[in-house]
Amino acid sequence: MLGLRFRQIAFVNLAVVALVGSSAYRWLPGGFAGPQAVAAEPEKFSSYVDDNGNIALPADYKTTFTHLGTFATASKVGGEVDQLHGVYARPEDVEAYQKDGKFPDGAVIVKDVYKTKSGNLTTGTVSWATDIDIWFVMIKDSKGRFRGNALWGDGWGWALFKGSDPQKQVATDYSTDCRACHVPAKKDDWLYVRGYPVLGDRETK
Ligand code: HEC
Repeated sequence: MLGLRFRQIAFVNLAVVALVGSSAYRWLPGGFAGPQAVAAEPEKFSSYVDDNGNIALPADYKTTFTHLGTFATASKVGGEVDQLHGVYARPEDVEAYQKDGKFPDGAVIVKDVYKTKSGNLTTGTVSWATDIDIWFVMIKDSKGRFRGNALWGDGWGWALFKGSDPQKQVATDYSTDCRACHVPAKKDDWLYVRGYPVLGDRETK
């Protein structure tokens, strides 16, 4: 074992000597400065997605993302507003959408669902956000990178985090946890863009 290792080292040394010996660079100050194999770092798809397609909640979205819009939602049809859904995207993704009418590869969309309180203020009857309930995250993937991962499909990665544990992604399969509810928005790349005035011209119904 040890013998083999020594032999390998000896061989490598020999190879280097041979290279230096045959190289004009040999006489340059600083020693051998021949061409080096610089391995290109593989470009990382997203700082919120690991190599296996696990999605993390962007910790800084409230301060660094652009607010797209808010849905005041009564979770019981015909009932009172009891949730506020704020939706956010990175400024560069909003800019790309304004230009091309679609979100680019890697775009990140966060929706936070807040519980509410309501009451009469001087503006009228008002609901305002109290505690966070859950977060939804979607990450645009126009290259189908994570085939076989049940949280990726239809051009997006889909994720869910509970207010009690923002570190832990809890969705298991987007086709059962998310997809059916987003079918009505399929024509807008699965997004309810009607609620996002900052994106510019869009159907509002
Ligand atoms: C009960 C239906 C329902 C389910 C289940 C659901 N969504 Fe949605 N989602 C909606 C609706 C409707 C909106 C827009 C209106 C609102 O928020 O009230 C929305 C909005 C969003 C938004 C904001 C961007 C957009 O689409 O306009 C994100 C992000 C999102 N959902 C992600 C998810 C993910 C990820 C899942 C699964 C883990 C999921 N949703 C499951 C109905 C649903």
